[in-house]
Amino acid sequence: MYALERVIDELSKGEIVFYESPKSELGDLTTSAAFKLAKIEKTSPERIAEKIKREIEKSPWISSIQIVKGYVNVFLKRLLFTKTVLGEALREDYGARDLGKGKTIVIDYSSPNVARPMHVGHLRSTILGGALHRIYSLLGYRVVGINYLGDVGTQFGKLIYAYKKWVNLRALEKEPIKELFRLYVKFHAEAEKRPELEEAAKEEYRRLEEGEEEHVKLWEKFRTLSIEGFKKVYDLFGINFDEISGESFYIEEAKKLAEELLEKEIAKIGEKGEKKNAVIADLEKWGLNHPVLLKSDGTTLYLSRDLAALVDRCKKYRFHKAIYVVGREQALHFKQLFKIAELMGLPCGNLYHLSFGHLRLPEGKMSTRKGRVIFAEEVLERAVNLAREEIKKRWNEDRPEDALKIGVAAVAYAILKSEPEKDIVFKWEKILSFEGETGPYLQYSLTRAKKILEKAGVEPNELSENFTVNSYEWELVKAIARFPLAVLQAAEKMRPHLLAKYAFSLADIFNKFYEKCPVLRSPPEKQVLRLLLVKAFYNTMKKALYLLLIPEPEQM
Ligand code: ARG
Repeated sequence: MYALERVIDELSKGEIVFYESPKSELGDLTTSAAFKLAKIEKTSPERIAEKIKREIEKSPWISSIQIVKGYVNVFLKRLLFTKTVLGEALREDYGARDLGKGKTIVIDYSSPNVARPMHVGHLRSTILGGALHRIYSLLGYRVVGINYLGDVGTQFGKLIYAYKKWVNLRALEKEPIKELFRLYVKFHAEAEKRPELEEAAKEEYRRLEEGEEEHVKLWEKFRTLSIEGFKKVYDLFGINFDEISGESFYIEEAKKLAEELLEKEIAKIGEKGEKKNAVIADLEKWGLNHPVLLKSDGTTLYLSRDLAALVDRCKKYRFHKAIYVVGREQALHFKQLFKIAELMGLPCGNLYHLSFGHLRLPEGKMSTRKGRVIFAEEVLERAVNLAREEIKKRWNEDRPEDALKIGVAAVAYAILKSEPEKDIVFKWEKILSFEGETGPYLQYSLTRAKKILEKAGVEPNELSENFTVNSYEWELVKAIARFPLAVLQAAEKMRPHLLAKYAFSLADIFNKFYEKCPVLRSPPEKQVLRLLLVKAFYNTMKKALYLLLIPEPEQM
């Protein structure tokens, strides 16, 4: 347990739970338990508060206790607490725990579709999932990040047709996904004029399904090129997957599974209309309709393939929890998937759909090309360009590498700071600003701290036994002490925005400290404490930013 939790844990008992005071003037920790207990014991809150006070008075952490109405307000011993927190925060593994020891969490995230650019929905999934991946790893879980590609469907017939006819090999080499997407769009434009193309594409698809070598080779090529293309985005955020799979892996298994579900009477044969002779899951009882698992012609669907993939993950990883980071449009799909898994009695852990809202750009600011989707790469490019302009404006320098890191930070933070279920509207100026709740602001506070440490040049000495801690220093100590708890909360609630909000408050408190407390121009004893604080802040912030996929710029 880390310092803050340890203190809280030592003081709390049963109904009496201490928590951080909302205002420092009211003490560092407080409890309102006396009000509740007074009712039970039919006495006054003040009396109970006195009793609580007597019980905790001897704690070595406490310097004084004040009772205000029924609240028990505790002031901590600043020296002791500061020393303890610094000891923890200066370690390389600050925030780490073995909470997840022996447990596996599977996270299905990003999961874009082959031969199509990632859209902003995939970007949001990539960033949310990537952050959770790191957060759970820090807590000691074995995390398996899975990129489950959309690599099945009749669109591959169209693509093969278009490829044979119109591919521009040079463009394919330079920007494969763009070229594949161009072919796809062109196919549709042409097919509108010449409907017979649809038939030709169906024929190509049939040959692909039958495993004709040329067709399978092309499909593989589309897949490989797409993975390479997606990797460009992943590299920006330092994301690595443990498994790159895809729907295509599960076609055969999905067919078998449908049969199995028929036998177990979880599924039945459709009797009328479109679903006649199809294998359907009867989920009417739970208000989840009759989703099709196998069409009457024997082909599988998104749902049945996902089910087969889940069975596989369950066997392979024996996971404790599986999280699917996918937009809210697919809420029904995941309810159906999880319900069928439950009916099958799959021996695996909890299943969770981390659903999220839309990401939009301000109207008219950016072309969305032919379709209605906004491409992830365009968003990133735009952010990086704007960061580059900002750097030029501020420092009259061109620093493309830092621009990349700042642009990435702006996008990552804008996505992570908002609650997943909320829609996000990107306001470029706002998300790229060096002030306010933004990724660049966090980076800025980090580089400020780094500059101080570099200027100091030497490693700070040990703290002496009788240093003093003023209120700015104290707020910073407490903010640093909150880090492990912020990580824990974000993990337990599966909500990275809790950590993002924490990081912003940490930066804010550091900047107040920085304004009021000179570090290098302070008396020797103060200098030791302040340098250590800056160093602890730097470690903590760097770690928080790492968890939020935000890189550290060279200078800012
Ligand atoms: N490829 C899908 C899409 O772009 C997302 C897949 C999410 N993961 C899953 N296991 N279904 O909409």
